[in-house]
Amino acid sequence: MAGHGPGFTVYRQNTILVHNFLLPGNAGGEAQKRNDTMLSEKMIEALNGQVNKEMYSAYLYMAMSTHSNEMGLKGFANWFMVQYHEEMFHAMKLYEYIARQGGLPVLKAIEEPPATFDSAMDMLEKTLAHEQFITASINDLMEIAIAEKDHATRIFLQWYVTEQVEEEENDNDIIAQLKLIDNHPQGLMMLDRDLAARATTVPTDFSKGIEAAAKALA
Ligand code: FEO
Repeated sequence: MAGHGPGFTVYRQNTILVHNFLLPGNAGGEAQKRNDTMLSEKMIEALNGQVNKEMYSAYLYMAMSTHSNEMGLKGFANWFMVQYHEEMFHAMKLYEYIARQGGLPVLKAIEEPPATFDSAMDMLEKTLAHEQFITASINDLMEIAIAEKDHATRIFLQWYVTEQVEEEENDNDIIAQLKLIDNHPQGLMMLDRDLAARATTVPTDFSKGIEAAAKALA
């Protein structure tokens, strides 16, 4: 809702500014309107595309959590729901960055994720493949920022570059364990118990902005 969180506040301020600059008799208003955002249109569109991809990631892992519960794998369900929170955090960091830089976050339709999966291995392999796709997407964003000499966005994106290394590593670790288990129920139960211990370490309430959420968590 308008008025909640710094993202919306910034957006609302920009809306007012743009409106004022377009009033008749406001000489030079167009130039000031163009200076209102630090981001190029191309960068804003690409960052908004990434918000959508992160939201889809959250949706995908929520679907995997649902399916894990259906399979009786409560630990996997927990692991995927923690991953859901991570992805929402990634999306909100981007959303807030766009708004703070004077851009307009645009929310597009989120694609429907698959509802069923063949096995725990199938879910993890699809998770890794999806994360590799996200890594490529972050690299594309970085290429745009570098080409446009947009150093603020380049520095902002470095956090995502590091995060992707960790995400792919986590997925590869679980896949390696699943290979060792080789469909033995006891091994799968032990891994499920391990994954039940994963806890959310990112903020989940963004109503007052990312910084306030991180402070509340500390
Ligand atoms: Fe937000 Fe899993 O990448």
